[in-house]
Amino acid sequence: MSTAPRTWLVTGSSSGLGRALTEALLRDGHRVAATVRDTTRLNDLKDTYNDRLWTADLDVTDTTRLRHVVDTAFSDLGDIDHIVSNAAFGLYGAAEELDDQGIDQLLAANLVAPVQLLRSVLPHLRRQGSGHFTQISSTSGQTGMAGASLYHASKWGVEGFFESLHDEVAPFGVGITIVEPGSIDSNFFARLNVAEPIDAYDSGPVGDLHRYLADAAAVKADSLGDPAKMARAIIEAATSARPPRRLVLGSDSYTAIEQALSGRLAALRAQEEVARSTNR
Ligand SMILES: NC(=O)c1ccc[n+]([C@@H]2O[C@H](COP(=O)([O-])OP(=O)(O)OC[C@H]3O[C@@H](n4cnc5c(N)ncnc54)[C@H](OP(=O)(O)O)[C@@H]3O)[C@@H](O)[C@H]2O)c1
Repeated sequence: MSTAPRTWLVTGSSSGLGRALTEALLRDGHRVAATVRDTTRLNDLKDTYNDRLWTADLDVTDTTRLRHVVDTAFSDLGDIDHIVSNAAFGLYGAAEELDDQGIDQLLAANLVAPVQLLRSVLPHLRRQGSGHFTQISSTSGQTGMAGASLYHASKWGVEGFFESLHDEVAPFGVGITIVEPGSIDSNFFARLNVAEPIDAYDSGPVGDLHRYLADAAAVKADSLGDPAKMARAIIEAATSARPPRRLVLGSDSYTAIEQALSGRLAALRAQEEVARSTNR
């Protein structure tokens, strides 16, 4: 085990990165409060780890239930040292192709739920005088992609929220890390919601994206990230003496974010004169 036993709360523990994190933490001797929509998905881990695994059924978009689950976890387990806000899903399609309900559901799960999770745990972490909150974002939190605007908006949204939270909660001994993984070998793309295509987009980048997503083998081949290795890196970062504000995982994510930031910095610098010229 890499660190002293601690207590963690992880959302979306049923598959992919959340499952890998939950397994690694339990293997390391930590105690985990794992939230899932269907608790039977954790039966095998419960059989192996017994009382070190606390579970609750939670759809993170149900804010009332979210608050209840968080309060119950703290009252059952005492202090919780680490929170990992991981649950999310993907919805791709041109902005015009999306429907209203899909937009509401995506933003509820990927943006509003992390905000409400933070708001639910914060009174407990303030009382403890310590705690670390890890928000799983994505390369998509730093880049843009035609055909995936809403998913990217949700990840830029959590980035803005948690970037601001960093200094807001530091005085209470609470830390924040935003994780930006690249493509993960998980269930994300198999379950991806894809909007009904509109013909007008067929010959452009959105049409290309629809064709790419229909090729499951190509998507799988591009899913470079190993969830177990990413889980290990997240645990090490969160438990380090100085947890990073951001953690980029995956060579694809590193390359894409470096390109995006370099481009933005160059574009910003090109506007210095006009920016400085508009002061009152
Ligand atoms: N896969 C990628 O390429 C990639 C890249 C960058 C970032 N990420 C991020 O990494 C995180 C984990 O994704 P993953 O790749 O591990 O995908 P995954 O295998 O599909 O796992 C997603 C998890 O989120 C849960 N979830 C989704 N909506 C939920 C809701 N409304 N309430 C409760 N749980 C919900 C799922 O639960 P159910 O089993 O009940 O559906 C599942 O446990 C997400 O934040 C995702 O945005 C993924």
